[in-house]
Amino acid sequence: MTEVSVAKESVAATDDLVVLKDVNKHFGALHVLQDIDLTIARGEVVVVIGPSGSGKSTLCRTINRLETIDSGSITIDGKPLPAEGKGLARLRADVGMVFQSFNLFAHKTVLENVVLGQVKVRKADKAKAEEKARALLDRVGVGTQADKYPAQLSGGQQQRVAIARALAMDPKVMLFDEPTSALDPEMINEVLEVMQQLARDGMTMIVVTHEMGFARSAANRVVFMADGRIVEEATPDQFFSNPRSDRAKDFLSKILHH
Ligand SMILES: Nc1ncnc2c1ncn2[C@@H]1O[C@H](COP(=O)(O)OP(=O)(O)O)[C@@H](O)[C@H]1O
Ligand SMILES: [Mg+2]
Repeated sequence: MTEVSVAKESVAATDDLVVLKDVNKHFGALHVLQDIDLTIARGEVVVVIGPSGSGKSTLCRTINRLETIDSGSITIDGKPLPAEGKGLARLRADVGMVFQSFNLFAHKTVLENVVLGQVKVRKADKAKAEEKARALLDRVGVGTQADKYPAQLSGGQQQRVAIARALAMDPKVMLFDEPTSALDPEMINEVLEVMQQLARDGMTMIVVTHEMGFARSAANRVVFMADGRIVEEATPDQFFSNPRSDRAKDFLSKILHH
């Protein structure tokens, strides 16, 4: 038994992709991230849940350095986050991010949205980048929309384009910050299905979501945050059937009974 657990730990240690150690951040007097320790293994899918204002978005934003931290460390694939310049642009490509608002370039076509970063940041050849963009758009089910502008697409389609755009950079990890919260209900599943497939394909994912069905079926681990702290971490089964903290019990009773 001991031998097995030692072996597991040593595998995990070499396979850590995103590591946050003792991360702290303030917004003025607000201590928005408090002593955050979080390690995400390659291929792992972690769902982050918690009440509004608990620091989930800020946590995501620190991982691709849209926000700086006050203390502690964040490494990706063993390397600290670069502070600026080309290193930072590459980091942003390595850490794909999908937001609640789709953030596509409005004046570019769907295809151009997925081509742009490949050419600018990854220095890909234009024709190759287009080929890859079309394949990715097909993969997320919007291949026929390639020549339209974002505003001509539904919210669910736009969000899938945003996912394709992030994937085009060959990210090491994908961050999703409430990717379905701005969608009409009938479009939520088409986005969740793309995310499910991505998880099955082995992508490392950090997903902030209130979609508990997704958490149950796709997550390896649920991280529950409240007031800037990680209060609880567990497998989805453990977390949903037997939350340990009062904060988590209270939160679950609110979201599951609505
Ligand atoms: N740029 C900012 N300046 C000041 N306060 C902020 C900023 N961004 C977020 N906050 C505050 O930090 C807290 C955590 O926000 P956020 O990370 O967005 O939480 P969540 O995503 O869990 O709802 C909230 O109280 C929010 O008002
Ligand atoms: Mg948020």
